[in-house]
Amino acid sequence: MAERADIIRAAEVLKAGGLVAIPTETVYGLGADARNETAVRRIFRVKGRPETHPLIVHVARSAGLDDWAIGIPPEAHRLAAAFWPGPLTLILRKNPGVPLVVTGGQETIAIRVPNHPDALALLEHFGGGIAAPSANRFGRVSPTTAADVREDLDGDVDFILDGGPCAVGVESTILDLTGPEPRILRPGGVTREVLEAFLGRPIAIGTGVSSGEAVQTRAPGMLDSHYSPRARVRLETSGTAAAAAREELESGHRVAVWPGGGLLTGLPRGATVLDVPAKAAERAQSLYTMLRGADRERFDVIVVTLPEASGLDAAVVDRLSRAAGPKNPADGKS
Ligand code: TXA
Ligand code: MG
Repeated sequence: MAERADIIRAAEVLKAGGLVAIPTETVYGLGADARNETAVRRIFRVKGRPETHPLIVHVARSAGLDDWAIGIPPEAHRLAAAFWPGPLTLILRKNPGVPLVVTGGQETIAIRVPNHPDALALLEHFGGGIAAPSANRFGRVSPTTAADVREDLDGDVDFILDGGPCAVGVESTILDLTGPEPRILRPGGVTREVLEAFLGRPIAIGTGVSSGEAVQTRAPGMLDSHYSPRARVRLETSGTAAAAAREELESGHRVAVWPGGGLLTGLPRGATVLDVPAKAAERAQSLYTMLRGADRERFDVIVVTLPEASGLDAAVVDRLSRAAGPKNPADGKS
């Protein structure tokens, strides 16, 4: 928990148009006053993120959705009441009063109430919305500690509110409520299974369009190049992982193995096997820390076997697949 004085300081920095790194239950965000266009523009510059990539607006529990969105479907209110504060981001039609820079020029808005005591205290004290993407440089692994933020953005952020390590460890689930049926644009901290049980019907994932382009326009965070460590991520099966690790070692590479698909046998001695937790929640919570750790230890390649993509592991599988995407031409991804 941050000190009260830090909450007050963070709110002052936001009011003055500054950037504050905020802890949330998912990952750290790089926040600015959502009503201050100049401050929001600076987020894009600091992250190195194209201005067409929309941000999430974080609001206090007491905030009125009407300040941010219009034409709000009844389901949005039900979902908000059930899952906020929490790792669920809702896409709604934007209130015309919200600056377009926040939404990357789109007429829809992403909004959530984060479930972290310091973020909630800051939002109440600040009194407005905080526009915040994850506090990493564009395309890199999201930060889950204040030290991660410092490593990525030190000097470019005016204040870092240290709220300890993030409990969920992967980003929020993005649920689009602007179409005829709810759709998950990004799997995250609230599982598809839980949302389906709550809404009482199946929920589609993605745009239903096979080309990556439409997804990138709708939710650019879904770019294949996102969430990458410096090391190359190589997806394998339990049948091919050992041979892949051997091949990489023989090419003179430093090799780590992330055995998410269960115990692997026959791994070569030179490969470092990472300690993947047995529980899904812990796998998600530790994922980015492990990827950052592998970079710190200068591994060239991480050989990954994926868990089954259900529950929280859907988010883990999504991020690892994207991390593997563009650097693995064999995958045929763009
Ligand atoms: O857990 C999280 O969601 C974290 C914490 C800080 O809240 N934030 C986060 O922000 O992951 P960011 O900017 O890294 O990812 C936001 C995602 C992007 O994929 C973006 O394209 C999508 O949300 N998004 C934002 N507004 C959108 C909109 N109007 N329509 C569709 N997708 C949107
Ligand atoms: Mg991000």
